[in-house]
Amino acid sequence: MSEQHPEPQPGPDTPGKPDEPGNPAPDGASPEDVDRSRLFPRVTSFRFRRGTLTPGQQRNWDTLWPQLGQDLEIGRDRIPQPQLDIAGLFGREAPTVLEVGSGTGVSTAAMATDEPGVNTIAVEVYKPGLAQLLGLIDRGGLTNVRLIRGDAMVVLTELIAPGTLDGVRVFFPDPWPKSRHHKRRFLQSGTIELIADRLRPGGILHIATDHADYAVWIAEILATQDRDRPHVIPLTTDSPLSLTRPTTKFEGRAEREGRRVNEFVYTRPLEDG
Ligand SMILES: C[S@@+](CC[C@H](N)C(=O)[O-])C[C@H]1O[C@@H](n2cnc3c(N)ncnc32)[C@H](O)[C@@H]1O
Repeated sequence: MSEQHPEPQPGPDTPGKPDEPGNPAPDGASPEDVDRSRLFPRVTSFRFRRGTLTPGQQRNWDTLWPQLGQDLEIGRDRIPQPQLDIAGLFGREAPTVLEVGSGTGVSTAAMATDEPGVNTIAVEVYKPGLAQLLGLIDRGGLTNVRLIRGDAMVVLTELIAPGTLDGVRVFFPDPWPKSRHHKRRFLQSGTIELIADRLRPGGILHIATDHADYAVWIAEILATQDRDRPHVIPLTTDSPLSLTRPTTKFEGRAEREGRRVNEFVYTRPLEDG
């Protein structure tokens, strides 16, 4: 898979420095960015921006990405990809969690450290974030994380077989607060159904957001799922997976600014229907 896309950046309207995932990009996309956006066949939960690696990140990328990462092409003419051989990817059979939008990988690395028996697939479009996660993996000696650079919708749709994931984590998805951007939110009814379908029965969907309006939106789509289709229900028993997230810089800022973090822990029922 080739390195053919400009760096996608997360949505606007989220606070923070412009060089971090989840933060606003400067105004004025280049003509190339605009053209690329037009090429993409659907509305995405991220937008295209260039991202530059620091020399240290570039070193991580050059040495570790070939072993631990894979690029998924983005664009209208991309060729659909075959499903992942997860056991082959990790060299073992183990419970597997997919994290959507791993950002700089702080939660990913911390949870992977706490759960050495769990395989983690981190999906992110933001290259500097993935490079930072490579650094955390290297420093922590982690062997249970693999990275995919691409759209998590495409990963879930094409690369993941139904009923295979033990968990899906979506921590602080871009809120896209303006009404006209709500269609860009990653979590929609269709996404929840897709995630439910990719979870094995008993698998866990763990969502966290500090955006009050997005939390209401998520609660609403979780409450109005079609029970005749793959769906998730609130988890009422102990979780087979860790639910303990570290406090990331992003979350720390939310707390300081008085934004409450809402968590949703759901499970695919053992018997659908
Ligand atoms: C607000 S940040 C949160 C990052 C991280 N989860 C955390 O808690 O710090 C959301 C991240 O999701 C990524 N993202 C948004 N849509 C995505 C998609 N469809 N596929 C992969 N990553 C996506 C963005 O690039 C961004 O890094």
